[in-house]
Amino acid sequence: MRSLKVCVKAIALSFIFFSLLSLPTVVEAGVTNKVNYSKDVIYQIVTDRFSDGNTANNPTGTIFSQNCSDLHKYCGGDWQGIINKMNDGYLTDLGITALWISQPVENVYALHPSGYTSYHGYWARDYKKTNPYFGNFTDFDRLVSTAHSKGIKIIMDFTPNHSSPALETNPNYVENGALYNNGALLGNYSNDRNKLFHHNGGTDFSSYEDSIYRNLYDLADYDLNNKVIDQYLKESIKLWLDKGIDGIRVDAVKHMSEGWQTSLMSDIYSHKPVFTFGEWFLGSGEVDPQNHHFANESGMSLLDFQFGQTIRSVLKDRTSNWYDFNEMIKNTEKDYDEVIDQVTFIDNHDMSRFSVGASSNRQTDMALAVLLTSRGVPTIYYGTEQYLTGGNDPDNRKPMKTFDRSTNSYKITSKLASLRQRNSALGYGNTTERWINSDVYIYERKFGNNVVLTAVNSSNRNQTITNLSTSLPQGNYTDELQQLLDGNAITVNANGSVNSFQLRANGVAVWQVTKPSTTPLIGHVGPMIGKAGNTVTVSGEGFGDKKGTVLFGSTSAEIVSWSNTEIQIKVPSVTAGHYNLSVVNATNAKSPAYEKFEVLTGNQVSVRFGVNNATTNSGTNIYIVGNVSELGNWDPNKAIGPMFNQVMYKYPTWYYDISVPAGKNLEYKYIKKDQNGNVIWQSGNNRTYTSPATGTDTVITNW
Ligand code: NOJ
Ligand code: NOJ
Ligand code: CA
Ligand code: CA
Repeated sequence: MRSLKVCVKAIALSFIFFSLLSLPTVVEAGVTNKVNYSKDVIYQIVTDRFSDGNTANNPTGTIFSQNCSDLHKYCGGDWQGIINKMNDGYLTDLGITALWISQPVENVYALHPSGYTSYHGYWARDYKKTNPYFGNFTDFDRLVSTAHSKGIKIIMDFTPNHSSPALETNPNYVENGALYNNGALLGNYSNDRNKLFHHNGGTDFSSYEDSIYRNLYDLADYDLNNKVIDQYLKESIKLWLDKGIDGIRVDAVKHMSEGWQTSLMSDIYSHKPVFTFGEWFLGSGEVDPQNHHFANESGMSLLDFQFGQTIRSVLKDRTSNWYDFNEMIKNTEKDYDEVIDQVTFIDNHDMSRFSVGASSNRQTDMALAVLLTSRGVPTIYYGTEQYLTGGNDPDNRKPMKTFDRSTNSYKITSKLASLRQRNSALGYGNTTERWINSDVYIYERKFGNNVVLTAVNSSNRNQTITNLSTSLPQGNYTDELQQLLDGNAITVNANGSVNSFQLRANGVAVWQVTKPSTTPLIGHVGPMIGKAGNTVTVSGEGFGDKKGTVLFGSTSAEIVSWSNTEIQIKVPSVTAGHYNLSVVNATNAKSPAYEKFEVLTGNQVSVRFGVNNATTNSGTNIYIVGNVSELGNWDPNKAIGPMFNQVMYKYPTWYYDISVPAGKNLEYKYIKKDQNGNVIWQSGNNRTYTSPATGTDTVITNW
């Protein structure tokens, strides 16, 4: 819980701020921290399918399906419906603290020849207008203010990869990908005079490069290196940030360059920092180092498909067991620099629903209990708490049938969402496997002296658990789920051993102790990239009520606000690069370091670097390295690449879109690097280049 003092201070500050600008006073309660979601539970809503709160805004004609019998069409759900479900207590009692809603912007009105519509919000037409079937800006403002008054954050979906379905040669197909800037036409897909889009055909998903620079299905793919597109998308997201949104889910991040997306993140974090996570789809069993690189370097978190696919294969499909799950937990803890910032789930709108019928309700309950006690930011797909079923899209996007608050899943979610807020072990703690066989997994989350021990038995027989040990202090512990999943109590001895017990068939038990630290302990820092002067929030425990110091390496940062659990600072003017953060309290006790904050050189722009006639032997690739942190500070191990050479330009020309400091004299060289790390440098003087102050650029030289 945030202290009352800080809330009052924040309200007072925003009051002064708004009065100075003589704007209407907006008092935001409960959502002061828009960059830390680790203690939150997100509820994902397909806006059109949740609740129709205003039938007057429903579409008429062929794109509407009156009783939602045609799941490809609009069914009437809107922001008023979501507001109603906050006001009547359904969402608040569920305990969720964030709502991820469909992209709110205006979408195409036309019917796709296959009978599809834009009900899902992924076919944008004008990012500066609302989708009228969800509501107008007044409705959106009320959605945000209602949510904030209840301590709920609003996350919007955002598709900067594409506009809408289009074909190269048929301007009458859907709306020809047309894009508008607050009503003014920017361009169309066929006859694309201003070159806003890529025209390289559809991707066959054969490589990362192919996925980025060709169309995803028939969706008109933006050329993010085009200045008009770059500026328009960055302006648009600021409009929604200014509307008060608290988070962004970015669609299809695998299909856009990491460079452009880093420049976007830098823009967002310099304007109004909010937690941002991308969708990088991974199939069952898929692990992709490029996905980890993106999560660690771009400034954006990712949806945790490794977690999602693994929990599904253990508890839904029964094709893996808890050893596989534990491997995934251990590997992801290593592969993601901030594993607690990745967004976990058990199902979503792009895969079959977890529940398959009444017989699977218990599996859903167990999966939710594991989700809500595991590392990462848990997301519950609307209707999972009602055991909604459905196969692939659009069957998995059926309307909510009931809003029943007595289901087991609803109660489990409510209990564990509340525990996540109270016990920091769930939000910030690491994970230790304490007992395992193929049917049983007992894992401990621990942050300081806060401990949560969770035991799950996915078999149909009781299991005897002997020789379990834990960090829970000596004592008797009852099940936090209050037997909703047949959990038992345990007795812990002075040496941490647990008296043997029976873990019930298909049972889950959660035992915990909440003991906040009295010395500084950092649980979370957000965001983890930013230029000097940006605001960063440090969360944790034991900071003390009196102001102390926050260190970037050995440099202290300006303090904006300070409480026992939350500190806001400004990134100090230090040389760009990676820094460890630590908090020193007023009596000089210092926290362990929170590692690898990346200080950027300054504002960022996306630049396409290219080099001609760079011939290589197979297995050798071209990289670029230069004199700023963003270009690896002349360290070949940190050089950017491997560069691309197949779509926008072809071998022996290589290219790559990179986020570099704006308006800066850069020095760089291209290098050839083979699989063993052997490096051949370009000869001659360093190449020089001045990046633009804003916008994008392309710079191509000869090897
Ligand atoms: C991923 C979304 O989640 C999916 O539903 C959508 O169709 C595609 N991206 C394209 O926007
Ligand atoms: C080392 C490289 O060998 C050289 O080519 C390059 O110019 C310098 N780094 C940059 O100072
Ligand atoms: Ca409606
Ligand atoms: Ca793309």
